[in-house]
Amino acid sequence: MLAWNPALYRRYEDERTRPARELLGQVPLESARRVYDLGCGPGNSTALLAARFPSARVIGLDNSESMLTAARERLPQVPFELADMGRWQPPEPPDLIFANAALQWVPDHAALLPRLLDALAPGGALAIQMPDNRDEPTHRLMREIAAEAPYAQAIGDVSKLRPELLGLAAYYDLLAPRAARVDIWRTIYQHPMADARAIVDWVRGTGLRPFVDPLAPDLQARYLSEYERRIGHAYCARADGRLLLAFPRLFIVALRKP
Ligand SMILES: C[S@@+](CC[C@H](N)C(=O)[O-])C[C@H]1O[C@@H](n2cnc3c(N)ncnc32)[C@H](O)[C@@H]1O
Repeated sequence: MLAWNPALYRRYEDERTRPARELLGQVPLESARRVYDLGCGPGNSTALLAARFPSARVIGLDNSESMLTAARERLPQVPFELADMGRWQPPEPPDLIFANAALQWVPDHAALLPRLLDALAPGGALAIQMPDNRDEPTHRLMREIAAEAPYAQAIGDVSKLRPELLGLAAYYDLLAPRAARVDIWRTIYQHPMADARAIVDWVRGTGLRPFVDPLAPDLQARYLSEYERRIGHAYCARADGRLLLAFPRLFIVALRKP
């Protein structure tokens, strides 16, 4: 498993936490006793959950020790556990399973999402946000360079680096027949970024990791410099000289039948 870098991830923490806040804003629970934050990362999404449900037992799960260490430092009163969310089963049915920017790393959503919904207490909520940015220049260019020599041999089959999302309508069809209600929407955020380097730094903390981390240091530097050059061509400067990073995200709030 490739290591996550909490410091790099936190560099754009405000921008990354905004979707978590907006997802939580659509969770229609008055109260909760047990809440899980799947793929809690450095605890930014967990902090929102702990503030919204102060009397709940909020638990963060992640499979990265470095992320868990950062989360424990940030929220010492919250239990954080090492777990693979692809296989995880709650010991008792929770009222809320929350996964912000996390489930896109786990395969087989057709089995996983119904299983998570069914694991909830009656009337509970499954709240998910996933980046839906594979067709954006940031992600198209990662794959494009990875398919070229000399990177292709080290990186391997790029289609295996992150599972494909199913698509908005398919997620609705998957959950609606077994849920009391499914609220699903897609938002395209527009982040003003200082320059191409800033866009590279953003994705270096997340989606670019599986492409760059397997490369030897000299190839990493070459890959990143070529990637930055192509990013500079793909995003043109706006009136203030900044580049607008379009970032589509898919949101789902599904309620378990009472
Ligand atoms: C992009 S971060 C999201 C962090 C936080 N939830 C937020 O809202 O910003 C994704 C997290 O998912 C975790 N993750 C990836 N695959 C996982 C898995 N199979 N099981 C548990 N956590 C996983 C990573 O370690 C990382 O901390």
